[in-house]
Amino acid sequence: MKNVVIVDSVRTGLAKSFRGTLNMTRGDDMVAHCIDALLDRNPNLPADAVEDIIMGCGNPEGPTGHNIGRNAVVLSKLPITTSGTTVNRYCSSGLQTISMAAGQIMAGGYDTIIAGGVEQITQVQPVMNMNGFVNDKINENEPGIYFPMGQTAEVVAKRYSVSRESQDEYSLQSQLRTAEAQEAGRYDDEIIPMKTQMLLVNKETGEQKVVDAECVKDECNRPTTTLDGLAALNPVFDPENGSVTAGNSSQLSDGASVTLVMSEEKALELGLKPKAYFRGFTTVGCAPDEMGIGPVFAIPKLLERYKLSIDDIDLWELNEAFAVQVVYCRDELGISMDKLNVDGGSIAIGHPFGMTGSRLTGHMIRELQNRDKQFGVVTMCVGGGMGAAGLLERYPS
Ligand SMILES: CC(C)(COP(=O)(O)OP(=O)(O)OC[C@H]1O[C@@H](n2cnc3c(N)ncnc32)[C@H](O)[C@@H]1OP(=O)(O)O)[C@@H](O)C(=O)NCCC(=O)NCCS
Repeated sequence: MKNVVIVDSVRTGLAKSFRGTLNMTRGDDMVAHCIDALLDRNPNLPADAVEDIIMGCGNPEGPTGHNIGRNAVVLSKLPITTSGTTVNRYCSSGLQTISMAAGQIMAGGYDTIIAGGVEQITQVQPVMNMNGFVNDKINENEPGIYFPMGQTAEVVAKRYSVSRESQDEYSLQSQLRTAEAQEAGRYDDEIIPMKTQMLLVNKETGEQKVVDAECVKDECNRPTTTLDGLAALNPVFDPENGSVTAGNSSQLSDGASVTLVMSEEKALELGLKPKAYFRGFTTVGCAPDEMGIGPVFAIPKLLERYKLSIDDIDLWELNEAFAVQVVYCRDELGISMDKLNVDGGSIAIGHPFGMTGSRLTGHMIRELQNRDKQFGVVTMCVGGGMGAAGLLERYPS
């Protein structure tokens, strides 16, 4: 089996859905923009060496429909000979595509694949095709599969008695860590600025106009967040008895990320400098109505397969879909806060569903290097009731 390395990973900044700087930018344009930037900053990689694009998307419809992997090839500087495909495993799509690329390379079928993910929530979510969406048989036996994700978060909070206080404390930490990392420039290397046009709506008058804009950084986080401010927010998904709020949920946002996955031998032959080995990946199903706890099942399976323990892992990127499920997974698995989401996460940064797995991988490979650590796990819960987890190892310098 060939060794698989991650050479680079870049992304757009994450912009608040509906009112951020990417609110008029198509998902396929975002992906092509990231691919071109990846090629530009890796001049040793000839464009025609890229054999395939595997693009993840949680709601691959409308402007992220058709086959966004292939369409991004045609929009980008890649030659027409590069193929492209689209993959959906909801919130883990961007990690799923990296693992699929890695698997193809390990098996010897490919040497160079660009994987990643995209989500354009602004343009897709309000107009999704719901025609025939629900299968009555599934709805009768497993209604949770159709729950809005926030409702599954409420199930986790109540079923496992995760307090509102612990969710808000965790969320404050996410905001503060993200703010500190942004300030220290630890997100700068992975973000590719993108000039856009955006729709600006005046909150008071409702007046709308299209203006020139640029997405240069993550736009969602609120560095001035306080515990009192979080505690004052009303529950969104169960207004009477709930605990999940806008402040302790991941934020709806738009963005794309691409990751260069290669065989170690090809990367070295081209004079590229790998950042990490991609060692392995796994998924497990769980009850759909408590999908947030998926990592509790995926992580032990991954670690057992690769003969590692929780303590062997130096850094964790456990996607912050909702604070409630991160808190539950953290405590159930015994993960230390010193190693968990060290630069914050989706509660502060935003979570364009299909994109996030690639973003987390891109940040993990940098933080393994910055902090001189060996093993990192990227993991997340997945809609429909699943957990996904991938293992990375820092490439020796
Ligand atoms: C929870 C949710 C519905 C909230 O949507 P929203 O109302 O658009 O959220 P906003 O970020 O605009 O926050 C609403 C208000 O809450 C308050 N708020 C949010 N975060 C806050 C914080 N950290 N501190 C203080 N106030 C905060 C603000 O008053 C904000 O209004 P403002 O934008 O005028 O400041 C939405 O973020 C959501 O659906 N999240 C989950 C996404 C999801 O399911 N992902 C899949 C995971 S599996």
